[in-house]
Amino acid sequence: MRTETPMPALSGHGRTVCVTGAGGFIASWLVKRLLEKGYTVRGTVRNPVDPKNDHLRALEGAADRLTLLRADLLDPDSLLEAFSGCDGVFHAASPVTDDPEKMIEPAIRGTRYVITAAADSGMKRVVFTSSIGTVYMNPYRDPNMPVDDTCWSDFEYCKRTENWYCYAKTVAEQGAWELARKRGLDLVVVNPVLVLGPLLQPTVNASTDHVMKYLTGSAKTYVNAAQAYVHVKDVAEAHVRVYEAADAHGRYICAESTLHRGELCRILAKLFPEYPIPTKCKDEVNPPVIGYKFSNQRLKDLGMEFVPVLQCLYETVKSLQEKGMLPVLPPNDEHHHQELITS
Ligand SMILES: NC(=O)c1ccc[n+]([C@@H]2O[C@H](COP(=O)([O-])OP(=O)(O)OC[C@H]3O[C@@H](n4cnc5c(N)ncnc54)[C@H](OP(=O)(O)O)[C@@H]3O)[C@@H](O)[C@H]2O)c1
Repeated sequence: MRTETPMPALSGHGRTVCVTGAGGFIASWLVKRLLEKGYTVRGTVRNPVDPKNDHLRALEGAADRLTLLRADLLDPDSLLEAFSGCDGVFHAASPVTDDPEKMIEPAIRGTRYVITAAADSGMKRVVFTSSIGTVYMNPYRDPNMPVDDTCWSDFEYCKRTENWYCYAKTVAEQGAWELARKRGLDLVVVNPVLVLGPLLQPTVNASTDHVMKYLTGSAKTYVNAAQAYVHVKDVAEAHVRVYEAADAHGRYICAESTLHRGELCRILAKLFPEYPIPTKCKDEVNPPVIGYKFSNQRLKDLGMEFVPVLQCLYETVKSLQEKGMLPVLPPNDEHHHQELITS
């Protein structure tokens, strides 16, 4: 008699979770990963009938296990309704902009409403997508010292420099910790650096535009700045791991490596020489800014491995081309690309 090897049970089988802002760049990959792991997902969007969310319905498993619900971060009742019957919440919705009018209220008050609704619903765990912007933004931080989860941005400094994205995310994350403690809610936070990789959604999001602007000719020079990067699949995986690991707690920096903007442009130019990528720094006076090195050790301790930044950049550009968001220009030497990313 033939004995069949039993399939390992999927970790999400029989478990229902909610993802806020399900149609966004990161959240779409998170929904995909959760469905792959067998979860039933309730995804909140602001307009379920908007065709911009159709990519979610096309995901494998979506027909049986994904429901899209209308919710707004500033409408607590809509959140309560969305969380009904869920074991956990992934709070990823937030505007990604430096416009204070658009950013501050949904990020700060919206996160407070999410934590309150999650506590009121008896949620087992909430995973909040915070940002590296809540971690390193402090003028006195030594760029030679690694930055880890114990570091916090100085929100007064963010305010003074009108960095409203970092300001709002910092106040939102601190508020989330405080409220979760008060309410006895199990909160875990993921702090991603700038996220790249293929897009599932039909429009270009802010972090993808960070690369796009160097390919279209709209940026003639690059700024004297450094930035850390991570692949969107790794960000989705990090969310699932911190949700599933019983002893996960605190903040998890999700980062691969840091590049000066000049290095980023040089890599892009090597991979895709056909685009008008800037070769000059806007600041020809000062030495190149040293970027912070972020510790991803806590996620490595959960078994994570990270896609190298070169691969992230390659996949981002290929995805923009495949989606028709970036013209494909000759020469498109596939062999040349592959050689570079594997060397
Ligand atoms: N991308 C990055 O590099 C990066 C890095 C670190 C942290 N993050 C964080 O990751 C999360 C997702 O970012 P993303 O890059 O995936 O952004 P995204 O593609 O712009 O998605 C943002 C999502 O937030 C939703 N949203 C905005 N305002 C809302 C409101 N008032 N009520 C309900 N939903 C609202 C949007 O929904 P609609 O479709 O209805 O507009 C959209 O689905 C954010 O919390 C962001 O701060 C991103």
